[in-house]
Formats: sequence, C-alpha cells, structure tokens
Amino acid sequence: MAAPNILLVSDNDEISNYIREILVGEQGCSVSVEFDAMAATEAMKEQNFDLVILKMETENPHTEELVKNLKKIDPEAIIIGLLEREDPEIAAKIPRIGVYDTITIPINEERLSFLVKKGAELHALAFTHRKLYDGLKEQNSALQKQNTFLAKRIEESTKNLTRLYEDLRSTYMRTIKTLAQAIDARDHYTHSHSQNVAKYAVAIAEELNLSAKDIEIIREACELHDLGKIGIQDNILVKPAALNEEEWKLMKEHPQTAVKILQPLTFLHAVIDLIQQHHEHFDGTGYPSGLKGEEITLGARIIHLADAYEAMTSARSYRKTPLTKEQAVAEIKKFSGTQFDPQIVKVFLKVVNKL
Ligand SMILES: [Fe+2]
Ligand SMILES: [Fe+2]
Repeated sequence: MAAPNILLVSDNDEISNYIREILVGEQGCSVSVEFDAMAATEAMKEQNFDLVILKMETENPHTEELVKNLKKIDPEAIIIGLLEREDPEIAAKIPRIGVYDTITIPINEERLSFLVKKGAELHALAFTHRKLYDGLKEQNSALQKQNTFLAKRIEESTKNLTRLYEDLRSTYMRTIKTLAQAIDARDHYTHSHSQNVAKYAVAIAEELNLSAKDIEIIREACELHDLGKIGIQDNILVKPAALNEEEWKLMKEHPQTAVKILQPLTFLHAVIDLIQQHHEHFDGTGYPSGLKGEEITLGARIIHLADAYEAMTSARSYRKTPLTKEQAVAEIKKFSGTQFDPQIVKVFLKVVNKL
C-alpha cells in the first residue's frame, strides 16, 4: 500500500507542524494542512484522502457539521479526532457522529502511527467494498433490464404460438366439417341434417343456460356427429326400406368410427365424448355402450333428442313424407323417460315453437 495521503485540519500551527513532521518526515505520508472548515471542505472536494485528522473542540459547534460535510463528500472518509486534552463530552459523542477514533495532545507517536496505518487500511477496504457494491448494483440493473426484455420476448412468442394453434385448430375444424357435410350430402335426404341438429341442440343448451364454451362444444359435436357414416356403404345408407339385422349392426358402428377418426385430434376430446354417446338412450337401451341416465354426458342427451327430432321432421330414404311438427313432438313426449332425458324433453318443449 502506498504511503497514505492525509488531510490535517487544525488552527494550531504548532501542533500541525509537529504532526506533519512525524507523518511526512518519519512515515513518508503526504499531508495537506487546512486551518478552517471551509478550506477543509474545499480540499476534500479536490483530492482523495486516505485519512482526515481533525482538531475537535467541545465549544466549537461547527465541528460536528464539518464531519457531516466531509462524509457527504467521501462517505468512506476515516476521521480521527485530535483533542487538546481528555474530553469526556467529545469522547461520548464520537461514535454517533461518525468519527473513527481520537488521539490526545501530547501526541503519542506510536498511537498516531497505529491510527494512521489502521485508518488508511480501513479506508481502502471501504473504498473497495463500495466499488464492488456499485458494480453489483450496475450488474443487477443490467440483468433486470435483460430479464424484462426476455419476459417480453416470451410473452410475444406465447402469443404467436397461441395464434398458430388457433389457426391450426380452425384449419382442422374446417377440413373435418367439410368432410362431415360431404357425408351428409351422400344421402340427399339428409342434406343439412348436421346443421339442423346443431341449431336445435344449441337452442336447448341456451335455454339450459350452459356456458358459451359448453355450447360451442355441443355445436361442434353436432356438426360432426355422423362423421362415422363415412364407413357405411351407400346401399345401406340410402336403402329405401328397413335395414336388416346385419345392416343395422354396421349402421350402429358409426359413433365408434367417428371416434377412431377424430381421436388423434387432442383438442377435440370433449367433442368426441358427445359424438360417441349421441345414440345412447336415457333408459340404457341405446348404443354403443348402453349408458344410462346421467352416465350419458348432458351434451350427448341434448344432441340425441335434437338428432331424433331432426330425423323425424325431414324426409328420409325409407320415409318420403316427414312427420309434422306436432307428430314429432308427440313422439318425443311419448319416449320421454325411456329414450329421452325427461328434463331435456321439458326444455325442448319450451323452445320447439321458436325453432
Ligand atoms: Fe348418428
Ligand atoms: Fe344424426
């Protein structure tokens, strides 16, 4: 460590010269001597001192203020109080006002050397500490900036991904819906069947106050519910007479066929459940699983009724003249509690006239 650079503030020439002699002559320190507070403050602004030796007097009210000002200029300044005599009053307030230690006249050379060495070391340490702290603070703020920047990038990427996902989903949905419409169109009697089922089912779901999300699931399930008929031959699908046992068996496979087609599309899971169950009967006599009552998803119970009503009120290959609205409603009422959920029938009767 280089020899300390010291600021000595004292209005007593004799003492100043004595101390300077010891510190410069014997220890090779640099010493600047100032006579009053103002000069001391100016010197402190101009130079970096390793240590300040400051003559302190009980009667002088400016001493404490000077210490404060010097600390403002160099927060790590090490100040040693120089006392003309033992002064308990000053000794008591020394730690509070930020003075490191005191030395009393007559000066003990050994103590002076010790204090100068210790004080200068402490100052260097405090200075390094502050540099490190400032550096860390700077790094921290740079990291924080980077963090904010990254968070923004992640947010943007997430938004882009969500948009991509939505695009992909809607492209898939459009393709599948087109396929379902093409299947509806294979039998010219059932053209628009799926669209009509969707209209009726949504009307019931709205009357039941289902959430917008659940209604959307029901709508999509309706649009795709007979997709599995893709696997049924035309001669069965549009047969102008009743199906035989073997043909019925094939016909009843259509919910499972739709499930097989749609299963890989994970975003359609809720929709797939409804399609799988759209021919289940409330009393357990339906297919494919023979589910009963509330074992059948609410949406599927709604679609089943809407599907049956649509089939009755439109022309079919096996029945050219459709049922009238009144006849169809009578059929629905007749099978309330067996084929259909009686609660859904009640709601349907409320909305049927608006359809
Ligand atoms: Fe069906
Ligand atoms: Fe159907």
